[in-house]
Amino acid sequence: VTRVGVIGLGVMGADHLRTLSAIAEVTGAEVTAVHDIDPARMEVAPGNIKRYGDGFALIGSPDVDAVLIASADATHEEFVLACLDAGRPVLCEKPLAPTADACRRIIAAQERLGRELVTVGFMRRYDPGYLRLKEADLGATLLLHCRHRNAASPPGWPTEYLIISSAVHEFDTIRWLTGDEIVSVAAYVPRSTSYASGGTSDPLLLVVRTTSGVVADIEVFVNARYGYDVRCERVAERGVADLGSPPGTDWRDRFADAYRAELTDWLAGVRTGEVRGATAGDGLAAQLVCDAAIRSLHTGKPADV
Ligand SMILES: NC(=O)c1ccc[n+]([C@@H]2O[C@H](COP(=O)([O-])OP(=O)(O)OC[C@H]3O[C@@H](n4cnc5c(N)ncnc54)[C@H](O)[C@@H]3O)[C@@H](O)[C@H]2O)c1
Repeated sequence: VTRVGVIGLGVMGADHLRTLSAIAEVTGAEVTAVHDIDPARMEVAPGNIKRYGDGFALIGSPDVDAVLIASADATHEEFVLACLDAGRPVLCEKPLAPTADACRRIIAAQERLGRELVTVGFMRRYDPGYLRLKEADLGATLLLHCRHRNAASPPGWPTEYLIISSAVHEFDTIRWLTGDEIVSVAAYVPRSTSYASGGTSDPLLLVVRTTSGVVADIEVFVNARYGYDVRCERVAERGVADLGSPPGTDWRDRFADAYRAELTDWLAGVRTGEVRGATAGDGLAAQLVCDAAIRSLHTGKPADV
């Protein structure tokens, strides 16, 4: 049995807790420990799971074999570094850390340790629709049209959050779909919806280019009102393919299969001692594109990654 500790029991952490319990028979893993800085959040965990008042104590506990981090972005670096110190395999929700420098510190710590323990929660790599898109036998990819729409963002979300919270998924997906690195990004700011509060520029249009010359346009629209809608069309030499998934209301429902497959594969990797899914290097690569997209947003000019 793999004994899993979960840090952060907000929306995502509570969802992961439910998923881990639903797949327990397949994975042979069980959640034995939880921590959230807000004790009330720990109430979502069944009573037999041990509550820790301190995340570092959970990570260091001999009762925990692997750690899932779903706490606020700013806490990821210190918790991942503590997992590396304790030799614990860790699945860290995206972003690996909110800056490229913090991602580099994690990678340096992992290199000093001499083995890979860090997986990053880019779950779209496990979504059946994206897997079909990637595997479709259509020849070289030329263009990708990506759409990321939420019904409503938290009030007063800074415009940069459209990039670091939403577009970051697109950046990882584009790298994974094409096998390329993203080399440049340009941010365009169209007329904003009146439903975006606090001066947020919403929607944004981002245009990226990859090493092989694929161009992807990405619409991020987080106050689209009508629902949660993620689309991707792959334009290739011998045809086009798209995700074909209808709009929904909630990202947890839309990507339920992906989260299940992601956690199942992570735990299989924990058993065999390998990192599957997105690595710390993938986390850094996505963050470098975010940084460039934010530079482009601020300067109004395309930015190299
Ligand atoms: N992969 C995805 O599709 C996806 C979707 C949503 C969120 N996320 C990521 O998951 C993480 C959590 O997001 P969320 O939407 O659940 O946010 P949330 O605000 O609902 O939950 C965050 C939780 O972290 C806790 N927390 C904050 N600081 C802490 C600390 N120092 N120690 C321990 N706990 C602390 C908060 O009390 C809260 O319960 C974020 O990193 C977010 O980017 C990923």
